[in-house]
Formats: sequence, structure tokens, C-alpha cells
Amino acid sequence: MIKTLIDISRIREDFPILKRKVNGNPLIYFDNAATSQTPKQVMDSIVNYYSNYNANIHRGVHALAQEATEAYEGARNKIQHFFNAAKACEIIFTSGTTHSINLVANGFTTFIKKGDEVLVSAMEHHSNIVPWQMLCDRTGAILRVIPMNEEGVLLMDKYQDLLSDNTKLVVCNHVSNALGTINPIEEIIPMAHAVGAAVLVDGAQSSPHIKVDVQKLDVDFYTASAHKLCGPTGVGMLYGKEEWLAKLPPYQGGGEMISEVTFEKTTYADLPYKFEAGTPNICGGIAFGAALDYLNTIGLEAIEEYEHELLTYATDQLTQIEGVKIYGTSKNKTAVISFNIQGIHPYDIGTLIDKMGIAVRTGQHCAQPVMDYYKIPGTIRASFSFYNTREEIDQFIKALRKAKEMLQ
Ligand code: ALA
Repeated sequence: MIKTLIDISRIREDFPILKRKVNGNPLIYFDNAATSQTPKQVMDSIVNYYSNYNANIHRGVHALAQEATEAYEGARNKIQHFFNAAKACEIIFTSGTTHSINLVANGFTTFIKKGDEVLVSAMEHHSNIVPWQMLCDRTGAILRVIPMNEEGVLLMDKYQDLLSDNTKLVVCNHVSNALGTINPIEEIIPMAHAVGAAVLVDGAQSSPHIKVDVQKLDVDFYTASAHKLCGPTGVGMLYGKEEWLAKLPPYQGGGEMISEVTFEKTTYADLPYKFEAGTPNICGGIAFGAALDYLNTIGLEAIEEYEHELLTYATDQLTQIEGVKIYGTSKNKTAVISFNIQGIHPYDIGTLIDKMGIAVRTGQHCAQPVMDYYKIPGTIRASFSFYNTREEIDQFIKALRKAKEMLQ
């Protein structure tokens, strides 16, 4: 029985898109791991920005410029508090998690040499594999993989064996986008630190669902994307400990990231601006802050509990369908279910249930090594959010049964 800790009908009123129909049926949106939907409050912040104080930031003395600067820096403070960073200057605005990871991977070119090792987990998104491969190509460092088991759980003893004095960096997602596994980063981080390695945690899939405290975790770098947190696309953040960000070289050169420029020499601005060249996504940053305000009104703890109930309910229902195999069966999961139905290609299911108004993601989920591990072309992935309901899950199960019947 689902205990509704949050008032779902009231919350759903905040999301106009949930009222629309797709192919003649009410939309059931279960692709939240790809991007979350946007509440009115966030849309209002965007309209308000362009209606009332659209201006460039950090540059002008006029009223609009000052208001925009204040709102943008206010959003940085909101992000700082949401993740409990010690200082606002430890929050760098980026275009999203991919940008955040590339910023760190590029900066580490300075600190990594031939023979050093970078450890990545076996269940990473391509965006947390490729930038590190590129770093290894540039430096002669070696990429090593922390393996996982059939349940989609990292093998911590193997991780321990891989750690050595050569390990300079450990990179891992907090939650796997393809499997939903919550990785034990509270163990992974101190183990890496014990050999002197830094840790980057990709928080794209955890930040919308789990309360994160970067100071308590003692993580060196943490990333998030606004569009998975009810905010707009094209904006995200990198948290970095001040001591790391201070020594990391800038990723891009340009305006606003400098202290002084002559043709002979340039000195860089202080944190966080050293990493924020050019006019940023001002409106996006402000809307990111509004999205966090919105999530705070519900509370991450309540969201986590409610989504866990949805996960349990959906898993129970799904496993009653004959031929269903779930990939990612860790006891610690967010509300993501990756699965296949025996003998049916995931795309066929995705296409058919779309006709019934249901949005899921099908394919490799930008995590080809995970699919290769299971020797499958892809999965059907249903990923839930706090605005989803048990009734929607019932409809989804009905649709799957119907699609299965049609395809077999
Ligand atoms: N990384 C996003 C997903 O898992 C896009 O769907």
C-alpha cells in the first residue's frame, strides 16, 4: 500500500504537460531519467527574467544588470545550500554534467602522467567514460574498470584490489542511469582517499532523488544537471572542493574568467569565475535555482520515500508478467526499472506503448558497456518521478501486457 507522504494531485497541477494527451491517450511520462518535467514555478521564473530584468551579468552598473547578477549569484547560493557545499565559490555553473566532467578531465591533464591510473566503474554513462579515455590518451595514463556483478552491483573487493599508489582518480556515478543502482559512494570515496586519489561522482541521476551532502561525503567533485531536477536544459553545475578548483587550470579562455590580460600574459579571475568564460546561460542558472526552491518545498526525503514505494509497486507488478527480465536488481536502487520481455525487441515495446501515451526510453541509454555486459542490444527503461502515480503504473502494466500479446 502506497503511503502518500506528498500531495500528488496538488503537485501534478504544477506540471501543465501532465495534462496533455499523446496519441489520444493521457500522457504517462516514465522517462524521467532522461529529463524531468518542468513545473509552472520554474517556467514563471524564466518568463519573469525575460519580461523584467534580461541583462548581462557581472558587467553593467545599470539596474537590470545588477538585478540579473543578483539573481544569478542567488541561484549559485541556492545550489550551494542544496548540496551543502561549504562555499558558493565551490559551485561552478556549467552546461550540464557532461560539461562538468570534461572540465575536470581537461584540468587533470596537468596532474596526470604516464603510468598513472584512473578507475571508472563498469556501469558508467558514456559521458563518464569518454572524457577519461581522452585524458588517458593525452597523458599515457591507464583506465581501469571496477567490475560489477549480474545484479548490477559493484564488486568492492575488486575495487580494493585495483587501488594502488598509481591511482590518481576514481570516477563513479552515484546512481546508474541504465540500472538504477545506488553505488556505495560513502565507501568508495574514503577508500580512494586512502591511496591519495581524488574522486569525481557523477550525480546526474542521484541529485533528483537522494539528499546529497558533499561535505559529509567528503567528495572532491560532484556534478548535476538542472534538467533532471525540474529545471531547464543547458545548465548544470560542478561542485569542487576549493583546494582542487584553485589548482585546476581553466577549461576555456575568454571574457569574465580573467583578472588581467596583456598580450604577454593573462592572469585568471578568482573562483568560481575562473571556470566561467563568456556570457553564461543566465536565465537557465536562475531557473535552476527556482527548480531547487520547488524541490525544497516538497523535500528530498519525502521524494525519496515516495519514489521508493513506486519502485517497489512497479517491480512487483512487472515481475508478474511472464518473460520479463529486470536488469539491475540491487537492493539499493532509485526508481528506475530497466527490463526486457523475452523474445521481443525493446524498441518494439517502446513504439507500441507510445501509441498508448506512455513515454519510456529504449536502447542502450548511453551505457553500451552495461548492455555488452548483459549481452543485450538494449532495454526498456521506466524511470519514475515524484509526480508519477500508482494508477499510471497500472496503466503501464496493462499496456505492456497488450503490447506483448500483439508482438508474440
Ligand atoms: N543520460 C540520460 C538518460 O539516461 C539522457 O536517459
